[in-house]
Amino acid sequence: MSKTTQPARVLVTGGAGYIGSHVVLALGEAGYDVLTYDNLSTGSRKAVLAGDLVLGDLADRELLIRTLEEFNPDAVMHFAASIEVGESVSNPLKYYRNNSVNALNLLEALRTAGTGQLIFSSTAAVYGNPEQLPVFENAPLQPINPYGASKMMTERFLADLTQADAAFRYVSLRYFNVAGADPASRLGQDYANPTHLITRALKTALGIFPKLQVFGTDYPTLDGTCVRDYIHVADLAQAHLDALRYLAAGRPSAIFNCGYGHGFSVKDVIAMAKAVTGLDFTVEETGRREGDPAELIAGCEKIRRELGWQPCYDDLEMILRTAWDWEKKLAAAKP
Ligand code: UFG
Repeated sequence: MSKTTQPARVLVTGGAGYIGSHVVLALGEAGYDVLTYDNLSTGSRKAVLAGDLVLGDLADRELLIRTLEEFNPDAVMHFAASIEVGESVSNPLKYYRNNSVNALNLLEALRTAGTGQLIFSSTAAVYGNPEQLPVFENAPLQPINPYGASKMMTERFLADLTQADAAFRYVSLRYFNVAGADPASRLGQDYANPTHLITRALKTALGIFPKLQVFGTDYPTLDGTCVRDYIHVADLAQAHLDALRYLAAGRPSAIFNCGYGHGFSVKDVIAMAKAVTGLDFTVEETGRREGDPAELIAGCEKIRRELGWQPCYDDLEMILRTAWDWEKKLAAAKP
């Protein structure tokens, strides 16, 4: 692998988490030298399937700088963050601390160590309730929850830094609803208290939860439930590798939506979960969850055009099937 055309060494913050671990594995398989930096607050050591793990917190500037100086990465991928919309409404300061302040620490450490390329895990939550769907990257940023606001702030840090310092370039990837698991079931989502719809539905099918609640049936959508653009985690991992190549080719800083360009309602997802598992489970319709936009669908032409991203799993059934294989494996491993 030539260093001039492709970064060989990648530091991954949050590489022991759900999305980070899939990307670490994809990097390892593609021949990159990868190092994970993670405090294991939600991630797991056994999810790091390529390279070593540094047990560290983003608040620990000295360790961050030492790790960067010793590993000397060509690029950093920054996943480590708090990610739950509902929790961000009840505990906003946690989100500003973990997602904004800690990102600032990381950027300062990158400058000290002289690391010039960053790929940032941003989110569709920066758009809030978009005025137009699909929502494109140049739409106004109007987050309606602290989670989206905390990520928007980091995007602003990045935009200002790249203006001030031509040696620093970044790609910000705005994820829509990431779901599914490694198709070979080596990895998947494994949180102590999962809140995401697909994981909740499958764990309810397994009997781990007594029922699945539908948060709101009075949204201005076809069936009254929220619509989301679900993207398979393996396709998202590929987008990160494409972004690395983009930066390595000397291209300018850029922002890309990561989604498929079409959405499914909460009720669509539940119907597919029942079809894929072959199991019926109790569903309870209840009130809205605070902070939820009605509908989020990605305008996704830019990432295909500029990064050459070619998704392989644009199929809700495939997303549910890989997640289901993983959930069954988890359940079999836990007493
Ligand atoms: N939902 C339920 N019942 C549940 C869980 C979720 O009805 O038990 C509903 C939610 O109210 C929402 C939809 O299912 O309408 C999807 O909710 P998730 O919690 O699975 O995901 P979010 O849309 O809240 O958030 C996710 C990521 C964010 C990201 C966002 C972008 O967690 O990081 O997608 O679309 F910003």
